[in-house]
Amino acid sequence: MCGIIGYSGPLEARNILLDGLAGLEYRGYDSAGIALCMEDSSICLAKKVGKVKTLRDYCDSSIRGTAHSGIGHTRWATHGGVTDANAHPHRAGKVTLIHNGIIENYHALTEQFKLQDKLISQTDSEVAAWALDALYDGDPLKAIRALKNQLEGSYSFCILFDDQPGSVYAIRSVSPLVAAYTHAGAMVASDLTALIPYTNQYFVVPENRIVKLTSYKIHVYDLDDAFTKEYPEILTVNWNMDAAMKNGFPHFMMKEIHEQPEAMKNTILPRMNKGLPDFCDDHIPDDLFTGCSQIHIVACGTAMHAGMVARAVMEPILRIPVTVSIASEFRYEEPLINDKTLVIIISQSGETIDTLAALRLAHDYGSRTLAVVNVKGSTIARESDYVLYTHAGPEIAVASTKAYSVQLAALYMVGCRMALVRGVFTEKQATDFLTDLLDAIPAMETMIAQEDTIKQVITHIIQSPDAFFIGRGLDYAFSLEGALKLKEISYIHSEAYAAGELKHGTIALISDQVPVIAIATQQHVFAKTISNIREVKARGAFIILLTKESAVVDDTLADIQIHIPDVDDRFTVFPIVVVLQLIAYYASLGKNLDVDQPRNLAKSVTVE
Ligand code: AGP
Repeated sequence: MCGIIGYSGPLEARNILLDGLAGLEYRGYDSAGIALCMEDSSICLAKKVGKVKTLRDYCDSSIRGTAHSGIGHTRWATHGGVTDANAHPHRAGKVTLIHNGIIENYHALTEQFKLQDKLISQTDSEVAAWALDALYDGDPLKAIRALKNQLEGSYSFCILFDDQPGSVYAIRSVSPLVAAYTHAGAMVASDLTALIPYTNQYFVVPENRIVKLTSYKIHVYDLDDAFTKEYPEILTVNWNMDAAMKNGFPHFMMKEIHEQPEAMKNTILPRMNKGLPDFCDDHIPDDLFTGCSQIHIVACGTAMHAGMVARAVMEPILRIPVTVSIASEFRYEEPLINDKTLVIIISQSGETIDTLAALRLAHDYGSRTLAVVNVKGSTIARESDYVLYTHAGPEIAVASTKAYSVQLAALYMVGCRMALVRGVFTEKQATDFLTDLLDAIPAMETMIAQEDTIKQVITHIIQSPDAFFIGRGLDYAFSLEGALKLKEISYIHSEAYAAGELKHGTIALISDQVPVIAIATQQHVFAKTISNIREVKARGAFIILLTKESAVVDDTLADIQIHIPDVDDRFTVFPIVVVLQLIAYYASLGKNLDVDQPRNLAKSVTVE
C-alpha cells in the first residue's frame, strides 16, 4: 500500500528521499511527501497530492537549504480522501511521522488523548502522531514503546523528533520494513527498490524492535530498552538496479511480460536434478507431500488465479482434494483443514495482509504450510513452515505478469514432486511432465514475438464498455486472469465465465459486437466450448478465439483467431497468459491510460 523511507547520512537527504520514493511509488501514488531535518535543526515539510514527480517539482521550487536526514512517504489512501492535508508526513507537536498500515483503534485513541481539536487531517496516522507526542517526554525509545502498547492494527512508522536532530526512528508491526547501512548513510524503507541503488546488503527490521538511524550507524533496540544482543541477519539481494529499471521498455509491464521466459528458467532449472523435481536446496522434505490427505491453496487476486490453475492440474493427477480459497474470505471462515492438510500460500510480495492472516489461521488449525513467494525475507516467507521462492526478480508494474507464470512453474513442480513421492507418477512420467513444462517456455517466447499481431485485436475491445472471457476447465481458470488483467489496467468492465454457464443468465448481456475472448485449448471439452462460442456468435458477439495451432475450427466461428503452439493441454496456460497480458497491455495503451500505475490500485496490499 504506502511506501515509506527514512534516511540519515552525509548526502543531501532531499534527493535520497525523492529518489527512494520514485522507487517505492508503485506501492501507492495518491500523494507524496517528505520531512527534512534542516541544518538549523528545523523541520521542513513538503507534501502534495499526485505523484512523486509533482512533489519533486514542488520541492525544487520551494525548499532552500540543506538537510542530511529526513523521512518520505508515498500514499495509497485508506482513511480520508486524497488531499494535501491527508498526505504524510504528519506534524504533531514535537513529532513528525509517516505511516504504512492501518491503526484500527484510532477512534478510541482520539478520545483517550483528547485529540478532537488538534487533528487537521482525516487520517488514522495523524492520531498516532499526536498520541506519540503526548507520550513523549524527551526519551524517544520510551515514547515509541508506550505508543506500541496502545496501538491495534498494522504499521510501519518512520519518526523524527524536533529535539533529536539527525536521528530517524522506525518501528514495524506486520507492515514491511527493511534497513541498510550503506556508503551513502543509513536507510530504512518499505521495500528494497529504494535501497538497491546504494547496497545489496540489508536486513528485515524485526517486529518488536526499534531502529534508530544516525549518520554513522543503525542502532537496533529491543523493546525492553536494551541494545539488541542479536543483530538481525544480513541478507543479500539477488537482483540489481537493472532489474528495477525499464531498460528501454516503455513500461514496466511490457518489460516484465518479456522477462517471463527467463524468470521461468530461473525458477525451474535450479530445482531439476536428473530430469526430476528436487527441493533439497529449498529444504522442503518429502514427508510434507506424503503426509497430507488434502491440499488447500490460499491467495488473493492473480496469485489466487494461479492457485486455480494449479488446482485444476494437481487434483486429477494426485487424486486428493485440492481446494482454492480467496484469502480475505478464508481468514474469517472455519475451514475444514487439519494437521493432514498441506496449506499452500501464494504471494508475490509476501506481504499481502489477508494472505498472511490466512497463513496464521492455517497454523492455528495445525496445518503444515508451504509458501510460494517472490520477495526474499518477506513476512509470509518467514512465517510459513517452508518456502519455495520464485525467481522473477522485482515486479514493479501493478498488474502482475511474470509473478503469475513463475508461481505456476513452482506449483507445477510441487505437483510433480508430490505425484512422484506419493507413487502416482513413475520417474518417467515425472520427467516427461517437467519436459512439457520446459517446452512451454519457447511457446511463451513465440507469443511474445507476436505482440504486433495481438495488438490488432485491441481496436475491437477498447470501443466497448464490456468484454467477456469464456472457457471451460483450465481455460476458465485462464479466463479469470484475462478478465482481471483487462479490467485493472484498461478500466473496461470484463467478466470471466465458465462457457457452459453463460446460458444460465449472463448470455442476456451479449449483444451486437460485444467482444468475447473465447479460450479453447482443452481437448476434452473443446467441442463443448465451440458450441458455447456459437451461442454467443449467434447473438452478435465479436469473437476473438484463442486456441492451439492444430485446432480445426470453421472460419466463420470467430472474427479473429490467435493461435498458440501445440503444447500439452496442461501447459497451455503459459503461452495463453502472454496473449491475455498483451491484450490488457495494449487496451490500456490504446485508451491512453497509466499502464503501470492504474487508478485506485497499489502493488502491495498491506491493509484488509
Ligand atoms: C493483479 O494484477 C494484482 N497485482 C493483484 O491481484 C495481486 O496478484 C494480489 O494483490 C496479490 O498480491 P500478492 O501476490 O503480492 O499477494
